[in-house]
Amino acid sequence: MTVDWKHWHEEHLRRIEEQLHQIAESFSPNISELPRAMQYALMAGGKRIRPLLVYATYELGSQLPQLQQAIEQVDQAAGAIELMHTYSLVHDDLPTMDNDDFRRGKPTTHKVFDEATALLVGDALQAESFYILSRLEIPAQIKILLIKELAMAAGVQGMVGGQAFDLGSVGKPLNQDALEQMHLLKTGALLKCAIQSGALLGGLTSSQQLLLVDFAAALGLGFQVVDDILDATQDSATLGKTAGKDLEAEKPTYVSLLGVSGAKAYSEQLLDKALTCLENWGVEAELLRAITQWVFKRNK
Ligand code: IPE
Ligand code: IPE
Ligand code: MG
Ligand code: MG
Ligand code: MG
Repeated sequence: MTVDWKHWHEEHLRRIEEQLHQIAESFSPNISELPRAMQYALMAGGKRIRPLLVYATYELGSQLPQLQQAIEQVDQAAGAIELMHTYSLVHDDLPTMDNDDFRRGKPTTHKVFDEATALLVGDALQAESFYILSRLEIPAQIKILLIKELAMAAGVQGMVGGQAFDLGSVGKPLNQDALEQMHLLKTGALLKCAIQSGALLGGLTSSQQLLLVDFAAALGLGFQVVDDILDATQDSATLGKTAGKDLEAEKPTYVSLLGVSGAKAYSEQLLDKALTCLENWGVEAELLRAITQWVFKRNK
């Protein structure tokens, strides 16, 4: 199987954008600005890496299509994870957290609206993501697992726990083990959830799902290592968010721990590790290999 990554990427980006558009349209206008602010945050763009990982992992199950759930259900589940991620960004940018004015090339939600509205946007997007999963037309046991994975990934044992770790570590140097733990929680958990969700929807067996656990950890950690590197090396226009914020805010990052070249060398090691984890798969994993290369080699 040769993969036309560029074509697949464009096609699936279109697919998830259309899905998110439909979700955003469902935030019916009411007397508050909240639905409009939710639409603003969700439709501001972004790489949509988590939904793309859901689709790519789902496609691993294409050899036994009778076990795969319908693609329309995958669209919904991928959308739900992007809502959860978008909520995390809206809160991450608040003055009480990273205090960022730009996100996805646009002013942050609290700048366009206000802080209270941005707080509520996050709250509402989180609730909405579970509501979407609850309505999926798939077997109940798979639906419950999807909800459980997302809850675990988003909560104190996942993203939010990692964010608390991050905020509590400002100005404190962390050793590599602690930093790894922080990154695996704040970022790795939701990426892992995207991969697990794709696997569940793709009908992968539990041993096939187990084969993806180490891959997901390497990819999730690597994703945040690259984010740390880009913050230190890329310009704001390319990133769509203010560059150089980690140093300014005294965040412990892989760049503060290892320097730019050390962090780059570490990200190469993680890329190798992620690809090695996929060696148990054949040609059917070409897409996951391509997406992995993209995640590690991205410039924003
Ligand atoms: C940014 O995530 C926050 C981190 C977890 C590092 P992304 O880099 O996926 O942001 P978008 O969705 O493309 O804007
Ligand atoms: C954010 O990490 C992780 C989450 C939003 C959960 P960062 O604070 O490094 O993300 P950016 O750099 O602002 O996108
Ligand atoms: Mg942050
Ligand atoms: Mg931030
Ligand atoms: Mg960052």
